[in-house]
Amino acid sequence: MGSVTIRVPATTANMGPGFDAFGCALQLYTDVTFEETECGLEITGCDEEFTGPDNLAYVSYCAVLSSLSEEIRGVKIHIDAHIPICRGLGSSAALLVAGAMGANVLRGNRLSTQGLLNITNAMEGHPDNLAPAFFGGLTAAMVDSGLPVAVSFPLHPEWEILALVPDFTLPTVKARAVLPEQISRADAIYNIAHGAMVLKALELGDEKLLHNAMRDKLHQPYRKSLVADYEAIESLARTYGVGFCLSGAGPTLLCITRNKAIREKLEAKLPTITTHDWTIMPLHIDFEGARVV
Ligand code: HSE
Repeated sequence: MGSVTIRVPATTANMGPGFDAFGCALQLYTDVTFEETECGLEITGCDEEFTGPDNLAYVSYCAVLSSLSEEIRGVKIHIDAHIPICRGLGSSAALLVAGAMGANVLRGNRLSTQGLLNITNAMEGHPDNLAPAFFGGLTAAMVDSGLPVAVSFPLHPEWEILALVPDFTLPTVKARAVLPEQISRADAIYNIAHGAMVLKALELGDEKLLHNAMRDKLHQPYRKSLVADYEAIESLARTYGVGFCLSGAGPTLLCITRNKAIREKLEAKLPTITTHDWTIMPLHIDFEGARVV
């Protein structure tokens, strides 16, 4: 009977215009330990409501065992989560990645990371959190003929990512429900062009280009009413000239800057313009992705 612990980074998806396509791994982690037993399922380290067989780590663990034609016996799963739940920082993707990698490691690493991405993407429905969670760094991903394809992009080393995490949650399903089924050609062109510029700005460390490019017409205009204080924080962030966006489906907001003074300015100003408590988390990029620890 084997045991393994998988460490998975938080991820911020979309990066503004890269809806369901761009993502970046961050140095904030959830560790999940899988210990094989004779029978039964025991999940600890999380709220009671997440201890059943619908726990995402267990669902993906079972999916990988099935794809390997392996018998599903008992397992004890312990979750040590530092990624905040339902905040737009990839906590669900982290569990899916941990479960998939945990099962694969315990069965002799017979599937490639691409194989694990294929299986988990079929569960999550979009690869933008999964790809950076597996591979680390900044990734863009597409789904082609039903299968995810991910590539990595270079990042300038001096970016500081400030995650502004509020005291309230926003379920992704709710944040996706407000999105329109169709958009205009003009809005599609806007996002394609801005998305390309975001990737280049992040590579070059060009804060002015990032500030201008990190705008979006696919999801943020429809979601901002679900995030209290969004408009006030966006206005403030824009006056600082930083890159600003919703992290994933929200409600966490991101400020991306090379100016080390911005954090202090936000800390001083945010409480005076907001109606909720916002915690500023300075996060570095994780370049390693999910790993055994
Ligand atoms: N791209 C996804 C969204 C990320 O914005 O809905 C959250 O899972």
